[in-house]
Amino acid sequence: MEHKHISGLVDVIKVDQPDEILKVARDSSFDRAFGPSKPILNSLLISRILGVLSYKGHRFPAMSAKKANGRARKQDDLWRKLNSEVSEIRSGPQFLEPLAEWTRNANSDIAVGPLLQQVIGRSFNPNFQADAQTWGAAQVIAGSLAPGNTWRNLRWRLSGKVTQAKALLASKLNDDLAGVHGVSVAIHNIVKGMHQMRTLYKDEAHRNAMTPETIGHLCLYAPGVVLRQATEEGELGGCPYSSGTLFLLELEKARQVSGDESMVFLGDTWSRCPAEQWVPALLEGVWRRATTASGHGPIGI
Ligand code: HEM
Repeated sequence: MEHKHISGLVDVIKVDQPDEILKVARDSSFDRAFGPSKPILNSLLISRILGVLSYKGHRFPAMSAKKANGRARKQDDLWRKLNSEVSEIRSGPQFLEPLAEWTRNANSDIAVGPLLQQVIGRSFNPNFQADAQTWGAAQVIAGSLAPGNTWRNLRWRLSGKVTQAKALLASKLNDDLAGVHGVSVAIHNIVKGMHQMRTLYKDEAHRNAMTPETIGHLCLYAPGVVLRQATEEGELGGCPYSSGTLFLLELEKARQVSGDESMVFLGDTWSRCPAEQWVPALLEGVWRRATTASGHGPIGI
């Protein structure tokens, strides 16, 4: 844990231990309400992130307060809907063929992003069509969230590029901001997983030994950081904090160091990812299809 505290300037705690992350994620005195914030650097960081992850005055769900109107109901509805797709997607259906083909063909320089967008987007709109523009939009949104590139990001914001990126995706996803989040923010964790899968596939020993279930674990990556704000003062791991202190929960770092898979989707907390079963099923399905079609691997279906 690292506390950056300079009075009047910054008050941020980075947390990278799974037990402390879960404590924050489960404690009702931490939220994503993000009311008017002090000190100045906290306020700038939050307004930059909320500026990117809001559309037409509505926050993306993963930046909404726990008690925001309708958030929990929509989260549950999406969880149920995605879970209802799990057994089909896990079986490696035809619509996963472009991803399976991408996995088999290590020399192809086709971007995997649009192929994944297509599979995520169809859960929100059966007519969704991913292309270079939709993938470009996802890169603009993710790029604006990444640290650094201050001038480029300012230019993008002032020129309306970020708003246009969100508008394009929202228009193709029936204005469903969970869908926009899926194809523009969360997708980058699955892109990492697909690259890992392709590397494993390339190695014949791995290709023959790995079951789809193993792949569903080995190719999971957690988000780099999720945010919380303390709504009252307290103490974490011996470190005192004030009401308003910003917490950066470093999920991927915590997962890598500890191997704790609960970091990936924060499954047992109020903010659990609605895609917690769907994403591993997708990875399994792609591997199943890639290995079955090539005649390799311990498939048995
Ligand atoms: C490897 C892929 C993914 C990972 C690792 C992941 C992980 C997470 C995590 C950790 C959260 C909690 C955020 C927080 O506590 O502040 C979250 C929230 C969320 N995720 Fe995912 N996610 C993934 C893919 C997806 C996809 C594909 C979708 C959409 C289909 C999705 C939709 C959501 C939504 C809507 C929320 C907000 C839930 C709420 O608080 O209301 N995720 N995700």
